[in-house]
Amino acid sequence: MAKKITVKTLQKYKESKEKFSVLTAYDYSTAKYLDQAGIDIILIGDSLAMVALGYKNTNAIGIEEMSIFTKAVAKGVETAMVITDMPFMSYHTDISTAILNCGNMIKYGANGVKIEGYNDYILEVIKRCTDSGIPVMGHLGFTPQFLNTLGGYRIQGKNQEASEKILYQAKQLEKAGVFSIVLEMVPQECGKFITENVQVPTISCGAGKYCDAQVLVSDDLFGKFSDFTPKFARKYGDMKSLICDCAKRFNEDLKNGNFPSENEVF
Ligand code: KIV
Repeated sequence: MAKKITVKTLQKYKESKEKFSVLTAYDYSTAKYLDQAGIDIILIGDSLAMVALGYKNTNAIGIEEMSIFTKAVAKGVETAMVITDMPFMSYHTDISTAILNCGNMIKYGANGVKIEGYNDYILEVIKRCTDSGIPVMGHLGFTPQFLNTLGGYRIQGKNQEASEKILYQAKQLEKAGVFSIVLEMVPQECGKFITENVQVPTISCGAGKYCDAQVLVSDDLFGKFSDFTPKFARKYGDMKSLICDCAKRFNEDLKNGNFPSENEVF
């Protein structure tokens, strides 16, 4: 069996410039297959709100739902690092609630949590989590939980001044103890600038090829989620067609009397 991926493995990847992979999963079987495929980090992203639960944006999902999906994914994974995205308002009200909610994800089988954004309070949450043995992945650039304050889905870090601001935030997150940082929807040059100037691995979510890792939402990669596909998501399959085709053939077979066959009955 392959050796479990830990924060130490990721730091070694950064130092040796070996790229690593991050994909989302929300259920036991998908997590198991991604793990068998050698994916380094499996993220129970709050994107599950939109792609699996049909909500309009990620802010709709709560801690109870993230807990259920964390338990399911963790059961399917042996080697990859399992990270749970802390949902909107699960770590914002006060430090004790934040630590308790993050700590519960570890109890449910996650190996760490992801926390979006940057401010003094977030730094304190990160520090207290790492002090308590909860590894934290940061998330800068476009941070979907701040959709309403950012004024929509907008590319961040578009000029040198904005990139320097993100670098400052990244360094502060690093000081607080994060083991990696997702950079979402920033120009490739900004992704490169941050990656070259921080010690922890950066994970690109539409931040270009110079980051230490790449993350995609699995349902985009599989061609399963079809409401919209971000520019940076590459489709490797057409699961939507596969699902529709299987369902149609099953429907036809049973209507034509071809299902079940003699071999499929007791
Ligand atoms: O929710 C999510 O899936 C994410 C990743 C795409 C970074 O935050």
